[in-house]
Amino acid sequence: MKGIILAAGAGSRLYPASIPISKILLPVYDKPMIYYPITTLLLAGIRDILIITNPYDIDNFKKVLGDGSQIGVKFSYAVQKIPRGIAESFLIAEEFIENSPVALILGDNIFHGFGFSSMLKEVGTRTKGATVFGYQVQDPERFGVVEFDKENRAISIEEKPKNPKSNYAVTGLYFYDNNVVQYAKTLKPSNRGELEITDLNKIYLEKNELKVEILGRGFAWLDTGTFESLLQASNFVQSMEINTGMKIASIEEVACRMGYISKEQLISISKKYKQNGYGRYLEKIVNTI
Ligand code: G1P
Repeated sequence: MKGIILAAGAGSRLYPASIPISKILLPVYDKPMIYYPITTLLLAGIRDILIITNPYDIDNFKKVLGDGSQIGVKFSYAVQKIPRGIAESFLIAEEFIENSPVALILGDNIFHGFGFSSMLKEVGTRTKGATVFGYQVQDPERFGVVEFDKENRAISIEEKPKNPKSNYAVTGLYFYDNNVVQYAKTLKPSNRGELEITDLNKIYLEKNELKVEILGRGFAWLDTGTFESLLQASNFVQSMEINTGMKIASIEEVACRMGYISKEQLISISKKYKQNGYGRYLEKIVNTI
């Protein structure tokens, strides 16, 4: 399975904070936002990741993440010049995807919760159909919304409906089989001029090939689209990390736990950050891996 992180938005809702650098590289507490979606893909067993950025930020992403070899993965980069929608990712990434199934995650989507790793591990092995994740929210009209029948099977998906048929938002994490590229080619721009990911999901739904996994009440799916929600996400991560003594979305730690790098490599990375708590944390947890 290959992975794509869509990190191309201008982030204008966070101007002036995100004028100097992409929103997706702004910190969420103690690490750049993109560490969180990278972790999600790593936990799904994905090591070959394409990062789609806007033309202005590509060098900043490369500066932060390089080619990935330091954490035993492969990062490559592509540009989305104009934001023409999430589903355009599959057209931009056609050569990268080749014959693989592929997961897509939006760069500002932060997931955290018990049991998520094992769920991702299983979903990451699916090679047929599509899988999306439903999460109960207070304001479903802001999202793609999925409706279920009595047996909890998805029966409809609508993008930002005025009258949502349920409170379940479709999160920004999607797993597809290799047909996704061909399906993406058939999409037409929506009223907002975008190739909608919801239209792509509808194709799978109509073929009876869409699975919706529910992320339950104890789960955190965090938004970072406004000043308030960005700060709240930082506060959430800080509070979890202080309570448990464990970090959320340390890509270096996850890479070592997944066996992508050795303990010696993790110790050597920790030295880079030895003047702060991040480095000391990596040094400390080596013994627990
Ligand atoms: C996009 C999708 C929407 C999904 C949301 C998740 O919304 O179109 O279906 O629920 O991401 O973050 P947008 O960011 O385009 O408003």
